[in-house]
Amino acid sequence: MLKGFIKSAAAAVAATGITVALKNGTVSAPAVAARAANAVKVTTKSEVGYDNGVALTPPMGWSSWNTFRNHISEELILQIATAMKNSGLADAGYQYVNLDDCWQSSKRDENGRFIADYTTFPRGIKPLVDDVNAMGLKLGIYSSNGTYTCEDLPASLGHEAVDAATFAEWGIEYFKYDFCHNKPFPTSAPNIERIIISKADGTDICTVFAAEAKLEGHARIVSDSRHPASYITGLSGNIGTATFSGINVEEDGEYILSIIIRKRGNFEKYAKVIVNKTNEYDLYAPSTKAATSDGKLQLTVNLKQGENTIKFFNPYSSRMDAAASQYIKMGEELKKATKEFAERMGTEEKPICYSICEWGFNRPWHWGKQAGNLWRTTLDISANWKSVLAIYEQNVRLAKYAGPGGWNDPDMLEVGNGDLTMNENRAHFSVWCMMAAPLILGNDIRRFLDENGNARKDDEVLKILTNKELIAIDQDELGVQCRRHKTNLQVDVLVKPLANNGIAVCFFNKFGEEADESVSIKELLGKEYCNLPEADEYVCRDLWTGEEFEIEDEIGVSLEPHSVKVFRIKADD
Ligand code: GLA
Repeated sequence: MLKGFIKSAAAAVAATGITVALKNGTVSAPAVAARAANAVKVTTKSEVGYDNGVALTPPMGWSSWNTFRNHISEELILQIATAMKNSGLADAGYQYVNLDDCWQSSKRDENGRFIADYTTFPRGIKPLVDDVNAMGLKLGIYSSNGTYTCEDLPASLGHEAVDAATFAEWGIEYFKYDFCHNKPFPTSAPNIERIIISKADGTDICTVFAAEAKLEGHARIVSDSRHPASYITGLSGNIGTATFSGINVEEDGEYILSIIIRKRGNFEKYAKVIVNKTNEYDLYAPSTKAATSDGKLQLTVNLKQGENTIKFFNPYSSRMDAAASQYIKMGEELKKATKEFAERMGTEEKPICYSICEWGFNRPWHWGKQAGNLWRTTLDISANWKSVLAIYEQNVRLAKYAGPGGWNDPDMLEVGNGDLTMNENRAHFSVWCMMAAPLILGNDIRRFLDENGNARKDDEVLKILTNKELIAIDQDELGVQCRRHKTNLQVDVLVKPLANNGIAVCFFNKFGEEADESVSIKELLGKEYCNLPEADEYVCRDLWTGEEFEIEDEIGVSLEPHSVKVFRIKADD
């Protein structure tokens, strides 16, 4: 029986030890001093699945979607980039300026390439990239793993290579890949009676019948009294393969492969065709109500002089396999494109941070690390407390899947938007930092500049978004997402291990009433998510007030409704 595609991808991920392993009682990195009782391992670049060298800490930037939806333009993006730079956000670590949906024209060019909207981005994207780069920032772009984007504009399914090459040529450094209008690979395969190889002028070279093919797994031969020849079935859902050999041609080149199938069923069929174990082709057969029962599918394939083999199978046993493979494909094309472009131009490669956005539908936390740098775990956020909370609840459980180079993405920030209060804004930002979430701003950051273009330093929202100590928790080099240490359903206590033997502890009051809560450090010692050594005293620093105090064991807090308190805790030297 064949090994599942996803199973092998998951095994590969497991083999890299991507989930950050905690080594009780060992000293594994110089940064972790000998006195540490527990040392959390720093993940190195070579252990990262997608391994494009970026997002070793969660990416930080801004996206147009939450505030501007389909009303974006070059002018706006340049204003945003200026605001990012001059408000202090860039210095605080925000670097990506991301165009979300609606940057593109509904028309591709004569070479099938994306074109930016003619009226809102009249210069195209490349000059915009240059301008944004000149400000020390990076430009991000958006498409969908479908036939259209969510706003019904051209998208990249089936155009992966050309779109990746276009983005690389433009100098794009962040790419969000949505899931609207997705077309999953069918899990059913066509039944094959025989194959015919011919030249493009119609001259037949050879025919190989089903009975001569080598079958593996559950593939089998079925005879049907209405037809002279039998056919192969059992190629669906990754359970069987059929390999045709005895295909001899006189010279290397392109040939026509005709596949005689038995039409069946009110569903689409798909097979992967692999010629000589290397060249891959996609074969589709439509859902059918045809009057005749045998049909012909044709592909142009490359054959080599002498003996050739052609293998048919369907590697997809579920929608999850299909989605994962489509996302993996785009990721591979992006890496290939940036490398090729850099080689061609003799310039330094600009890797693209690859953001998978399929809303958690196909459990991307199981395969995302192999496919890209971050993966949305939920449906879209909106600017109200209920939404922030619902998303937090889904994402907080997925801690073990996140790590350097591959992050759970609970969606872009709504800090400063909608009817969120300042306590709610602080809490939203804090729990995103605790969850090592990508920090992609979703508000209109132009408001952080006054009429002279200077930063409004007393703006409460700006103060939240540039809280360097909170950002340091998000960006900590261990790259471990917090664990929920305990909850009484109203207050969650989150703990995040930090490099250099520290932890961050966040008390999160989720509901509309005040609450008291406490935690004992002794209770935490030895937990896999606690990176503190045993000590007589601990120093606690409140990351919102800057207050510092010492404790022997318990730390207790009183919390306003919908609020947090976040502490950085270290052993007292
Ligand atoms: C989806 C995504 C959003 C945004 C929109 C754009 O809903 O989840 O984040 O990109 O599409 O149309």
